Amino acid sequence: MNAPTTRHTIPDDTLREVAQQHGTPCWVYDAAAIRGRIERLKKFGVVRYAQKANSNVHVLRLLRELGVVVDAVSLGEIERAVAAGFVGSGEPAGIVYASDILDRTVLQRIAQLKIPVNIGSPQMLEQLAQASPGHAVWLRINPGFGSGFNRKTNTGGEFSKHGIWHENVQECYGLIRRHELQLVGLHMHIGSGADVGHLRRVCDAMVNEVRKCPIDIQAVSAGGGLPATYREGDKELDVGEIFDVWSAARATIEAHLGHPVSLEIEPGRYVVANSGCLVSEVRAKKSVGANQFVLVDAGFNDLMRPSMYGSFHQIEIVPQAGAPARGNVRPTIVGGPLCEAGDLFTQEAGGGIVTQDMPEPEVGDLAVFNDAGAYCASMSSNYNSRTLAPEVLLDGGSRRLIRRRQRMDELLALELSCD
Ligand code: LLP
Repeated sequence: MNAPTTRHTIPDDTLREVAQQHGTPCWVYDAAAIRGRIERLKKFGVVRYAQKANSNVHVLRLLRELGVVVDAVSLGEIERAVAAGFVGSGEPAGIVYASDILDRTVLQRIAQLKIPVNIGSPQMLEQLAQASPGHAVWLRINPGFGSGFNRKTNTGGEFSKHGIWHENVQECYGLIRRHELQLVGLHMHIGSGADVGHLRRVCDAMVNEVRKCPIDIQAVSAGGGLPATYREGDKELDVGEIFDVWSAARATIEAHLGHPVSLEIEPGRYVVANSGCLVSEVRAKKSVGANQFVLVDAGFNDLMRPSMYGSFHQIEIVPQAGAPARGNVRPTIVGGPLCEAGDLFTQEAGGGIVTQDMPEPEVGDLAVFNDAGAYCASMSSNYNSRTLAPEVLLDGGSRRLIRRRQRMDELLALELSCD
């Protein structure tokens, strides 16, 4: 099945109204699209949302209401989860902390809230046991292979800093026993935007690891990595296919252990990527030699993925209200306002500059970046002293501001308060 990209679910007029009311750049999400994705994932029993993809508290609340639990990878993400109503304890735990180190402040908060920790380095076991005896842990195993849409999102194999190398797992079991920690389950996440073949391979690797595990466990986690669709014609993931292979793996694991185990999945991108877009305004256009440039009021401080990974986000032109549809489709380089030559949204991995075909816009038209619900607002920065853009959630007929635009005085206060 070919996937519709975000924009097919959000009408032009709505985007114009949002831009009018909240200014640009502005993020817009559609709650119905998020609900649809969770519906498809429900067969997994436990859906643990990787909130780094989009950690707006209102998105987290929406997900909590749908029965989803979360992972957190920083103190900030723990506090977001708490603010959204998740609790550390429970079965399954409302929050699991996943990282390769435990910094001192995180350690305190985890001990206080009894948040299970997904362990990525042996030292974490010792530190955790000292701060919180008997604490619940998962082990994240690097199975020796990985997969990602970009080498920067591949989290398996010998060049990954994540998880416990599969040949060193026994040492961790020893530490878990010695420190009397409680092992909940085993976890593997081989990368983001992984291909389905590799995702299937994880099942076999997991079955092997469970067979070698000397401690009884209650759960396994398939990690995240489920792909989303970005280009017209990208094939939508068949969640049923992934579930079937995991279901078979779970049956083998249960037969081996002699009791039921719970199966968790930990997606971020798949849940939110296709639910949102970034609305910007065209502010200038110019020809530079043979190239046509369109410059908009969003920069890589807002949407970093094209600059960082060469990621593709389809850019659609929404003409001003009452204006005719724009014609004259031509290859266009789209850039932002930052004082950086690399502030371009039409790039390949490695930084090569490419174009997107689009109708020639007029200044004042909206340029809408599709499928920008995952790793977009959450990766924004204040570079060039630009403030964070607002976020709006559409839900049926309602339209709700879920983050207001950051103000410059809030940024300055961090420094002026040092006077
Ligand atoms: N679990 C763990 C342990 C992870 O590290 C990640 C993502 C996920 C789950 C969720 O992966 P997903 O289902 O979203 O693929 N900034 C990049 C993506 C980095 C992903 C980092 N870890 C991007 O813009 O595409």
